[in-house]
Amino acid sequence: MSNAKPLFVGNWKMNGFRANLTEILNVEESIAKTPFHGDVVICPPATLAALAVDALKKSVIQIGGQDCHAEEAGAFTGDISAEKWKDLGAGYVIVGHSERRAYYQEDNKAVKAKSKAVLRAGLVPIICIGESLEERKAGKTLEIISAQIDGCIPDEAQSAPIAVGYEPVWAIGSGLTPTLEEISEAHKVIREALHKKIGDKADLTPIVYGGSLKPSNAKEILAILGVDGGLVGGASLKAVDFLEIIRACD
Ligand code: G3P
Repeated sequence: MSNAKPLFVGNWKMNGFRANLTEILNVEESIAKTPFHGDVVICPPATLAALAVDALKKSVIQIGGQDCHAEEAGAFTGDISAEKWKDLGAGYVIVGHSERRAYYQEDNKAVKAKSKAVLRAGLVPIICIGESLEERKAGKTLEIISAQIDGCIPDEAQSAPIAVGYEPVWAIGSGLTPTLEEISEAHKVIREALHKKIGDKADLTPIVYGGSLKPSNAKEILAILGVDGGLVGGASLKAVDFLEIIRACD
């Protein structure tokens, strides 16, 4: 942890049907019963997000988007703007996830534009960065993640809240994770790079780890200085697993 408020984000990706909304309600129920001292966000597919916002009653967790378009509105079939997420009642939007970077060729410039859009809408962007396996093997991890911070964080972040998700691409859904030392080193470098962009506000910005975070490894990863929470994929689909990860930080 650091001085930032802990943050846990469940990224459902393209998973879940209406029947799975109970998982979100179960997370809400647990947090309402036993409060958690940080923020909890679930980002279901857009088809479920509106239903989830309507179903949530206790305002102890928030719903987020998994991506957004940089423009406010217009002829962009299939896309969702940050303003639409705001209108829906979302509090956060993930931008720059490595799956978006890989499948939709989103580069740092595009991620910066989307981060800007999320801030414009008054929401919190969860800006994702992380090295590929090739980059790690070539010893370029720290250089790459510093460059991603430099290229993705807009000036507007100096005066509005953001969050950063560090997700080594090779750790996502693979069951593999970096060593605790490697995670620690990466988060330290990210915070330093963030300092150059947003000054002391970097100390209060949650930098969360993602990539095969699960109940069995959450305690040790979340104990690392500078890891302020988690960005959880597969293990966020079941309330019981997601909650175990969140509670590992208590
Ligand atoms: O955004 C979260 C994600 O990419 C991590 O996925 O399944 O490895 O927890 P997973």
